[in-house]
Amino acid sequence: MLYGHDYFTSLKKNPVLSERFDKAMNSISSNEDAAIAQQLIFNGKIADIAGGNGQLLRKILTNQAAVSTAILFDLPNVVELVQETPKLECIGGSFFEPLNINAETLILKRILHDWTDEQALAILHQVVATMGPE
Ligand SMILES: C[S@@+](CC[C@H](N)C(=O)[O-])C[C@H]1O[C@@H](n2cnc3c(N)ncnc32)[C@H](O)[C@@H]1O
Repeated sequence: MLYGHDYFTSLKKNPVLSERFDKAMNSISSNEDAAIAQQLIFNGKIADIAGGNGQLLRKILTNQAAVSTAILFDLPNVVELVQETPKLECIGGSFFEPLNINAETLILKRILHDWTDEQALAILHQVVATMGPE
């Protein structure tokens, strides 16, 4: 909060830094995304909450034919740069507001550590609120 707003608001104000951040995240996450996509079993409709530019979901779709739809949720300025495909849908929004995501599996990877405990709880409340009873 050094400049009166959070880090991701700073990125939103600077598209060059925002793109650089997304590329850095892809690099940091590359090996773990490959391992998750190959070793965990996914099927049906899945969603990656704050999934950046969709690297993990694209790897899962490449490896797992049983996934019918993969929903990428992230800030609007992030998902607007992502190319949708027949199986990859993008939703722009904030995880501090109601998510309205209909999926059987919700992924949050490398998210909660960026926030205070209170903010992390607020994110998890929105995730729980969008989950069905099952
Ligand atoms: C550390 S990156 C993790 C990206 C990805 N999950 C991964 O593991 O590579 C955090 C992500 O949270 C997103 N983010 C930040 N604030 C957000 C908000 N209020 N709502 C939704 N996404 C947000 C950022 O745009 C970024 O993609």
